[in-house]
Amino acid sequence: MNQWDRFLTPYRQAVDELKIKLKGLRKIYDLEQDASPIEFVTGRVKPLTSIIEKATEREIPFDRLHEEMYDIAGLRIMCQFVDDIEIVVNLLRQRKDFKVVEERDYINNTKESGYRSYHVIIEYPIETLEGQSKILAEIQIRTLAMNFWATIEHTLRYKYDGDYPPEIQKRLENAAEAAFSLDEEMSEIKDEIQEAQRYYSKKRAKKHNQE
Ligand code: GTP
Ligand code: MG
Repeated sequence: MNQWDRFLTPYRQAVDELKIKLKGLRKIYDLEQDASPIEFVTGRVKPLTSIIEKATEREIPFDRLHEEMYDIAGLRIMCQFVDDIEIVVNLLRQRKDFKVVEERDYINNTKESGYRSYHVIIEYPIETLEGQSKILAEIQIRTLAMNFWATIEHTLRYKYDGDYPPEIQKRLENAAEAAFSLDEEMSEIKDEIQEAQRYYSKKRAKKHNQE
């Protein structure tokens, strides 16, 4: 195995495990026929080219990557409503299988770019042939609207290297405001939406039981 494979293996393992665990949370709500604060979960290991690029940029030597690059393992939890984010963060804080070591609230502190999300850095134990080792992972928790904006902005960032023409810059600001209003509007009718979701999930369960 080469050096990078050896380095990345625990991160790959962690992302696989965490995806299963976090998706499992959603399944519990489904079984209870309760409205889930989690809509869907994604995960990825940072591509090697991005790791090397970021390490070079920030002058992080190879032997410091474990401690200093906390987003090599990255998970994302998407929620329907802004209020769900706090519920999810509380679920994460209570867990015994990992430890929350840092929180970054870019929802109450929106970034200059317009970016909103709640970030939680965790310390996650991994079993290896040499015993247990702990790795850092970043979990980003955001609404569907926040995710839509961040995904689009991230794509454009690549194209323009973050240096947007004024017209695009303005559009992105408008889009961030629109995403914010969408979240606010949805929060206003949250109870209505969740009641409907519960109704359909009960109806589905009933139909399923008759089959
Ligand atoms: P990086 O931004 O990852 O280089 O690290 P950092 O130390 O600056 O941490 P920060 O909390 O600012 O960002 C961590 C992650 O949040 C990023 O890797 C992105 O996934 C996301 N993020 C932060 N700011 C933005 C932004 O302005 N736009 C988008 N699309 N994503 C962002
Ligand atoms: Mg950043």
